[in-house]
Amino acid sequence: MNKKIGVKILGTGSYFPKKLLTNADLEKMVDTSDEWINTRTGIKERRIAEKNETTSDLAYMVSLEALKSSNISPDKIDLIIVATITPDMFFPSTACFLQKKLGLNSIPAFDLSAACSGFIYGIATVRAFIESGLYRTVLLVGSETLSKITDWTDRNTCVLFGDGAGAMILSASEEDDNILSTYLGADGAYSDLLFLPGGGSANPATAETVNQNLHTMKMQGKDVFKAAVPKMALSAQKALELSGKKLKDISLFIPHQANMRIIEAVAKKLDIPMDKVFVNIHKTGNISSATTITALDEAIKTGRVKRGDLVAMVAFGGGFTWGASVVRI
Ligand code: ACO
Repeated sequence: MNKKIGVKILGTGSYFPKKLLTNADLEKMVDTSDEWINTRTGIKERRIAEKNETTSDLAYMVSLEALKSSNISPDKIDLIIVATITPDMFFPSTACFLQKKLGLNSIPAFDLSAACSGFIYGIATVRAFIESGLYRTVLLVGSETLSKITDWTDRNTCVLFGDGAGAMILSASEEDDNILSTYLGADGAYSDLLFLPGGGSANPATAETVNQNLHTMKMQGKDVFKAAVPKMALSAQKALELSGKKLKDISLFIPHQANMRIIEAVAKKLDIPMDKVFVNIHKTGNISSATTITALDEAIKTGRVKRGDLVAMVAFGGGFTWGASVVRI
């Protein structure tokens, strides 16, 4: 019998635009305060892309970081997947733009849409592709410019989001198997609680849809909050179960960085002490598909986790979608 193909994490990267937007800046834009934003969300500042800076630009910069950390050249990549809800265009995919920027051609490239759970969906997809033997070395990117679909006059949403990108390169391995489990879920019944109504086939872009601001995110924050906590806790438990590991085996929990109160509530529900939970939301805001991977990259680079440690990454987002993955660093 053939030996099972393992999936090795070769390296990671993170990249943020230069421009900083602080809570003090937001105070000048909408009726809000640093105190409100900080106590309700834990966010103090976020990075914002320039007008001419695209999701694929961030994806390109972060891919260079991940290639460096993996110590491989771009030509070793044989599949590119970009998880995003803020693509450069409807089509071609952001992954195709990234492929071009990396100077690659002919390898397959596609986008994956699962909102804030996008990177976890991506890990599950890459794992399946590698284990099946179809591809050997995959570049997985979570890249977002949420600032471009934010209504900057709506204080309910504009204080929450930021821009940034994270990447991971995964490769077939005969010795290592770093992805211990993946668990995914979705429930389209809640699609109207967090969505972008305009521009697609439901409401094609017209002067009227633009006047009505339908090209920006709409959200029922309280309902999203209520659904996020149990689904993130469930995802973590399922991924742990599937990995055959116990809570005590996990060195670090990396929850989706949407709101500090969601993170604390999930930790409480799972009975995980906060010193085992990674938080960087204060400086990033919610960057959707890029949160878990940029957090993991920071945890690795700052020595918060070391080689061999087990990490549980957990996410929840629009759709609703949710998922978790237990990985060995
Ligand atoms: N500044 C000042 N006041 C504000 C602001 C603001 N930026 N935003 C809302 N308010 C006001 C509201 O108008 C409301 O005023 P009212 O009582 O006079 O009507 C009051 O603050 C309370 O508003 P709530 O919506 O009840 O505030 P809540 O405590 O629920 O916090 C928040 C709102 C932060 C959006 C919270 O519901 C949340 O984080 N939800 C999760 C949403 C989320 O993270 N979405 C991201 C995508 S999904 C994901 O990533 C999980």
